[in-house]
Amino acid sequence: MNDRIILAIESSCDETSAAVIQNDTVLSNIISSQTIHEQYGGVIPELASRAHLQAISLIIEKAMNEAQKEFADLTSIAVTTEPGLAGALLVGSSFAKGLGLKLGIPVIPVHHIEGHMYSGMLEHPECTFPFIALIVSGGHTSIFLVKEFGQEIVLGSTKDDAAGEAFDKIGKMLGLGYPAGPRIDALAKEGNPKAYQFPRALIHESHYDFSFSGLKTSVRYFLQREFPDGVHDESILRDICASVQEAIIEVLIHKLLRASKEYRIKNIIVAGGVSANSRLRSALQSASEKRPITIFLPKLSYCMDNAAMIGFLGSLKLKHLGEEAFQSLQFTVNSRAIRTTRISS
Ligand SMILES: Nc1ncnc2c1ncn2[C@@H]1O[C@H](COP(=O)(O)OP(=O)(O)OP(=O)(O)O)[C@@H](O)[C@H]1O
Ligand SMILES: [Mg+2]
Repeated sequence: MNDRIILAIESSCDETSAAVIQNDTVLSNIISSQTIHEQYGGVIPELASRAHLQAISLIIEKAMNEAQKEFADLTSIAVTTEPGLAGALLVGSSFAKGLGLKLGIPVIPVHHIEGHMYSGMLEHPECTFPFIALIVSGGHTSIFLVKEFGQEIVLGSTKDDAAGEAFDKIGKMLGLGYPAGPRIDALAKEGNPKAYQFPRALIHESHYDFSFSGLKTSVRYFLQREFPDGVHDESILRDICASVQEAIIEVLIHKLLRASKEYRIKNIIVAGGVSANSRLRSALQSASEKRPITIFLPKLSYCMDNAAMIGFLGSLKLKHLGEEAFQSLQFTVNSRAIRTTRISS
């Protein structure tokens, strides 16, 4: 069989990314993060679309150059079509359709959350089905049971804020800027995770749903009560960050391990932006040493939004569904959608 050489494009939120994948190997993965949103404390959709438009050609050119490929070498294009910001998704998908039409090659629509999910298999061919996946990102926190390719069952999801959103909103209260997850991670390294007790919502419930809005409210009241003028002591700030981080991570790991035990699944994938968290990674590592499970984590550049994971899933889709499934350019973007059934074209 001929090589699959895929150009992948990701533009669902505030990262413009392009990658080139040859079969299952990543030849390049260029990521440009939009910094314009920092001053607003969150992503402004209209500004995101404009920034994608400005960056996309250059990012694709860089990805092609680094992979040392010409457009004529490409056999298909994979692009994120859902979920995300509608205008941002349209920039990537319109570019992909136009290029696909010009080159006469198939365009594979890819679900962003499935992209995060299968990123756990990227560079880990030993990760086989079935697996349990915890997707923990800026917009999602869900546990999936994946029996085989495309057979994904959602066991539970957040009822309100995603874990990444909790990191970001609590970080904003602490004056840490946006996105605050990486800042909280860094500050927590030298903090005491037991200094303050914050709620672990739903931890003892038998289902796999999460809730992080109560934690956010609890931190808000705590700060208003204890530090009405703000937290000015660096060591207290470190303790608060460590305690908040611990409250989030404890719930995530508790539910994840219970799902793996209940369904008797040994392979576990943890992916999405929050999977970059150093405490989450080390806690997962020690949990796996004490149990008959293997935890697969994407490397850091595949945790944040990136086109490599989109191209990798595009490649898997081609392998499982065949090129004929992707001849139509009739797909459109879908801003909010979480898939619970079989992957199809
Ligand atoms: N080291 C870290 N510790 C905690 N959170 C982190 C860390 N690094 C990134 N994050 C969080 O990850 C989130 C970004 O992840 P990602 O880019 O996957 O989200 P998204 O694409 O906006 O949302 P989704 O993938 O759900 O559509 C942000 O909330 C950010 O704060
Ligand atoms: Mg994401």
